[in-house]
Amino acid sequence: MALTLPDLSGWLAALALLATAALPLLRRLRRSPSGGTWPPWYASHFWLGRLAAAAGVLHCLASVRTGSLPTPAEVGLWLASLAAALLVLEALVGSSLRRRARGRPARRRLHLWLLALIALTGGLHVLLDVLLPL
Ligand code: HEM
Repeated sequence: MALTLPDLSGWLAALALLATAALPLLRRLRRSPSGGTWPPWYASHFWLGRLAAAAGVLHCLASVRTGSLPTPAEVGLWLASLAAALLVLEALVGSSLRRRARGRPARRRLHLWLLALIALTGGLHVLLDVLLPL
């Protein structure tokens, strides 16, 4: 079976999101200093995060179809759109964290909460649109 653009972009978004979220964990485990200086390898967190956001938006746009679906699948698509929008917001908040500015601790908490929301909405989308219809 040939992989289509919606398949490829969906997998890319999911894998890039996982890798992006794993890097801060690795940094904590290595006890790198937090709050404004990052080891050189942490730059991959920045570009993988942007890649996840771009792939999420591409996945949304490439999957647009006309026609009606059962209600659960329809709800799943709205959740997928929300997840893509949150990914873009997550990348913007992440970019703002690279500067030391007022309100940074609150933005850092928001960065973490957004990850939880993205995982929830993206996970429900996979459940409602990919796993259940089988
Ligand atoms: C899908 C996108 C992203 C996810 C899921 C994500 C997730 C995370 C997580 C879980 C942390 C750890 C927060 C903590 O320890 O309290 C973190 C830290 C950080 N992220 Fe992201 N991130 C994303 C995108 C980005 C982008 C695009 C940038 C910058 C261009 C960025 C910049 C940062 C910075 C600077 C920190 C360190 C904050 C600190 O040490 O105080 N993130 N990110």
